[in-house]
Amino acid sequence: MPGGAYWAFRKDPLAFFTRTAREHGDLAVFSFGPQKVYLVSRPEWIEDILVKSAGKFRKGIALERAKTLLGEGLLTSEGQQHLKQRRTIQPMFHRQQVQGFADAMVKHAVRWRESIAPGARLDITAEMGRLTLAIVGETLFSSNVQGDADEVREALADAVSGFAVAFIPGFDYVSKLPLPMFTRIRKARERLDRVIHKVIAERRGQDSGSADLISMLLAARDPENPDEGGMSDAQIRDEALTIFLAGHETTANAMSWTWHMLGSAPEVEARLHEELATVLNGRTPTVEDVPKLEWTRAVIAESMRLWPPAWTMGRRAFEPHPIDGHVIEKGSLVIMSQYVVHRDPRWWPEPESFKPERWLQPSDRPKYAYFPFGGGTRLCIGESFAWTEAILLLATIAQRWRFVRGREPAPTTEPRVTLRPKGLFMTARQR
Ligand code: HEM
Repeated sequence: MPGGAYWAFRKDPLAFFTRTAREHGDLAVFSFGPQKVYLVSRPEWIEDILVKSAGKFRKGIALERAKTLLGEGLLTSEGQQHLKQRRTIQPMFHRQQVQGFADAMVKHAVRWRESIAPGARLDITAEMGRLTLAIVGETLFSSNVQGDADEVREALADAVSGFAVAFIPGFDYVSKLPLPMFTRIRKARERLDRVIHKVIAERRGQDSGSADLISMLLAARDPENPDEGGMSDAQIRDEALTIFLAGHETTANAMSWTWHMLGSAPEVEARLHEELATVLNGRTPTVEDVPKLEWTRAVIAESMRLWPPAWTMGRRAFEPHPIDGHVIEKGSLVIMSQYVVHRDPRWWPEPESFKPERWLQPSDRPKYAYFPFGGGTRLCIGESFAWTEAILLLATIAQRWRFVRGREPAPTTEPRVTLRPKGLFMTARQR
């Protein structure tokens, strides 16, 4: 059992989890203060926890705390409430529906690629954040939220910074103190609420007909109880904020890491350019091109293998659960880390190498050796949205631009709720 686990985790979470799994096996046990924690790293057991035995587990500590921001939205609700919301909202994220959002994705990618100048030094993570925010903003609100974007981004960043401190022992107590950080988080939440409630109020006053997610949330009915009426404003607020938050930072990170990896893999990049030339022949991509862009998809899949935007997932055991002759005690935390499993040499030969070609060959690796979108009833509802968006953005931008790091230092990792590259500066070169 690793001692001083909490501080080692705080210092370098990625190294801590990787070391713990490699040294203590697929079921490693340690403590964060009084909290017993299991790090589970065998794909079959992860599948068991997320899918087959999911009923015995609930969300982990960070997401329980995220309720202060996201209320009872999809990401944070549990049990019957979650199932009801999931079946009500699921149709909005079906593949056909997502295809309807593809135009907005390409439109913003084109706008972005036209806004940059050759030789510009770009903070790639910030740029991708702005781009994906504009896209989720448009699909949710069918308006360009760019005007409000900086305010919303700032408010979100402040609010999200609260998640990182949620691990501190005694957080429940300290979060009630009038410290500037907590006051900032509360104010950020109030600001976000104001924007979202304004939009809901405007939309309730209008005839339906708009194809954005807010209108769909207003019109949505639980298919098992269709006469029950729609969601309350409070529920719509929680769902909209959840989609807004879950729907842009993760994809922005996936895109940023992808540019970073492409910048140091000239052959991979050349093959990407070749595919874009063959499939698109100079025209802007559309949703019909998505299935044809196989290499583009493989590049993103491989980038999310090495740098999974959701790098860890937590669950709390609500009943004792046996794994491999051990019993996970009731109340324990279970952590499954995509970052650790995606780099496990048992499933990934040359795990540290960026090799998109591994996605073009059939493989017998276990299903949960790769789980960037989670699994089971809590599988990311936006998975199809995210793939479509990432492929279209990469294709549209890479048609015109390459990004080179040159002498800039390599980015550092910022593993918070999501795994973000920090300090990723690249120079734009026209193709
Ligand atoms: C590359 C991009 C993305 C990644 C890696 C990602 C990853 C994940 C993961 C791992 C979960 C499960 C968390 C858990 O079970 O503890 C999740 C849930 C969720 N994601 Fe995503 N996501 C991405 C994009 C999106 C997008 C674009 C949207 C919406 C437009 C979205 C909305 C959600 C929602 C609402 C949930 C909660 C689902 C539920 O519990 O029923 N995500 N995501």
